[in-house]
Formats: sequence, structure tokens, C-alpha cells
Amino acid sequence: MLKLPVYLDNNATTPCDPRVVETMLPYFTEIFGNASSRNHSYGWAAEAAIDLAREQVAALIGADPKEIIFTSGATEGDNLALKGVFEMYADKGNHIITTEIEHKAILDTCKHLEKLGASVTYLKVNSEGLPDLKELEAAITPKTILVAIMYANNEIGVINPIREISALAKKNGVLMMSDITQAAGKVPVDVNRDGIDLATFSAHKIYGPKGVGALYVRRKSPRVKVIAQMDGGGHERGMRSGTLNVTGIVGFGKACEISLREMEAEGKRLSILRNKLEAALLQLEESYVNGSTASRLPHVSNISFKYVEGDALMMGFNKSIALSSGSACTSASPEPSYVLKGLGLGDDLAHSSLRFGLGRFTTEEEIDYTIQTVTDTVNKLREISPLWEMFKEGADMTEYY
Ligand SMILES: Cc1ncc(COP(=O)(O)O)c(C=O)c1O
Repeated sequence: MLKLPVYLDNNATTPCDPRVVETMLPYFTEIFGNASSRNHSYGWAAEAAIDLAREQVAALIGADPKEIIFTSGATEGDNLALKGVFEMYADKGNHIITTEIEHKAILDTCKHLEKLGASVTYLKVNSEGLPDLKELEAAITPKTILVAIMYANNEIGVINPIREISALAKKNGVLMMSDITQAAGKVPVDVNRDGIDLATFSAHKIYGPKGVGALYVRRKSPRVKVIAQMDGGGHERGMRSGTLNVTGIVGFGKACEISLREMEAEGKRLSILRNKLEAALLQLEESYVNGSTASRLPHVSNISFKYVEGDALMMGFNKSIALSSGSACTSASPEPSYVLKGLGLGDDLAHSSLRFGLGRFTTEEEIDYTIQTVTDTVNKLREISPLWEMFKEGADMTEYY
């Protein structure tokens, strides 16, 4: 029996894998020591667990365990990387390059740094969701200290050419940071092959617990340093103080180990399901995939259904399918997603988008149900939509948006 609602919001968060939960359980009650307690076996056991998790987390991205700084998640990692580099490299310069469609954890941190004297270039992206590398290179100045470009976008799943981007940064002696939150554990990420100096990611996107993540900070060629944003006991090589969340970190480690082992098979399975869903929904008239389909995460599809409001669509099936629309309802009037606007979508398409994020526990039966439900709902809403009627009568629709 199909369990409703079908969960297709795996880019927002994922459920904990039961294997992760099982691994974490003893660390709540039996192995509860403080990993910094050096004088007794409770502390040693916790420290040993952290050491193993650090290896597992590092292995997922081809890093050395010493290069992993545990954080509370990707938001903290983004803040620590940007603010920490800005402070550390103030003597060299104050210029940061990023893109207009980064996660808010990057964009809002950049805005904050601008108030403190940073100069930030927000590169535009093309209709595929990709930045122009010539523009990127042209933006680099002697004052540039950091290029911060995400590995894969959380709304459209588009994967950036990170190796080419980092090569440009390196050629110009600039550090390369990437928010790898949506890519890690889903597609192979290797900080050495990809030329990344700082990378941030989060356990809850890869079937681990919420509230734990990591910042990768390169130790060799070049040796990168960030100024701590949280002062205290000097944990995590002085870059992030605070008693380690041993239970969470153990779960994060296990989640990384499973993802590394199962990524290839899972990616193949999910891309087949995603392609099935996408092909079926594109049968609907005036439906469009947003962003590049050539360079994309295997489990994501962002589709606009013109002349239907994404929010109305979601209301239509909110008891049966859980997903995200391209509008962020932060106020009475829902704003269309800045990512989709960044791709150049008009309000008509930006307002009518849905993000389908498949995951480890998505079944084919759920995808079949989703195809049927979304198709029926789009058709039903269009039947009562005056805009759709006008469009079908051949009216010039540009004046309505
Ligand atoms: C690309 C990206 N960066 C950062 C974050 C924030 O992650 P966290 O919830 O771990 O703070 C997310 C999650 O929404 C994300 O998708």
C-alpha cells in the first residue's frame, strides 16, 4: 500500500537512514562521553568514535581526515568559510566572487560582509543556470581572495563545471570554496580532483541527522586557514569551538560511509525514476524543465507548468505529495524563486514551477502515483483557469504577466 503523502522534497531534507539511527543509538546513553575528556575511558571512547567519523566524512570527498572541521550544518559552514576567509586574508584583499543563484547561506553572508567592507561580485547565470567562465575570469582582480560557487544548485539540481572554475581561481592565486551540500553523497566529489580549497556540507541531506555538518579546509598546497567565528575551547584545530556533537557526528560518518558505497547504484536507479517522471510530465502542454538537463543531479527535476500557479498546484495535492514550489511564501504575496528569475524565467514560468526531489526511499509506485496526480491536477486547474482559456484562444499573453 502506498503511504501518503509521497515525499519528494529530498533536497530540503532527507529521513535518517535506519542504519544511521542504529549506529547512533549507543552514543546517546552508553558512550556519552565528551570527546575532549582526556582522563577517562568515556572520553576516549567518544574520541575514537569522532576519529572514525572524521575518516568516513573525509573519504566521501577525497579529503584527509585532518581537513574536516565539524559544524552544525551547511549554513554554519558557509558562514565560517566566507567570514573566516574574509578576516584571515584581509591583508591580501576584500573581493569575493560568487553567483546570483547561490543558497541564501552564501548570499546573505556576502551581504553581511559587504557591510563590513567586502566587495562582492554576483555573477549572472545563463538560462541553463550556469555562470560564464569568461565573466568569472574577467571579474578576478588583485584584491580577489575567494571564489565561492556551489557544486550543484538546490532548486534546479544543475551541476557547475567546478574543475574549470577552480582552475581559473588557482591560475590567479585565488582560493576556491564550494557549497557541496546538494552534491556530496549524490555525485562523486573529490576536493583534489575538483581543485576545491574549502567545502561545506550537511548530514541531513544525505540521510543523516539534522544539526551536524562539516567544513573542509585544505591543509596543503595551499594551506588554508579561517578565523574562527565561534570562540571558546579551541576545538577543531581552533577553527570551531564547542563540545562536539558526538552522536550527530557518528551518524554523519555512517551516512557518508553508506552514501559513498551506494552512490553509484542509487544515482542510476534515481535517474531512471526521475527521467520517467519528467518524460511523463512533459507530455503536458506548456511544461518546461528549468535549468540544464545535461549537467544535473540524478534525482532532481524542476518543472514549470505554464498558466498554473505552483502554489495552487501544491494546494491541490498537498495531502498526497510533499514537495516544493518555486515560490518562497515569506509574505502575503509569494515571491517567485530568485534562482528561477536568475535563469531569466518570466513570472509566468517562475510562479508555476515545482521541484521534484527524489530520494533513497522513493519507489516506482510513488513515481507512478505522482505522475497521475500531478497530471490530473494540472489539467483540472487549467480547466478553470481564465489565463489558460485565453492562451488556448490565441490571445497575446505577455500583457498578463
Ligand atoms: C546548497 C545549500 N547550502 C546550504 C544549505 C543549508 O544547510 P543546513 O540546513 O545544513 O544549514 C542548504 C540546505 O537547504 C543547501 O541546499
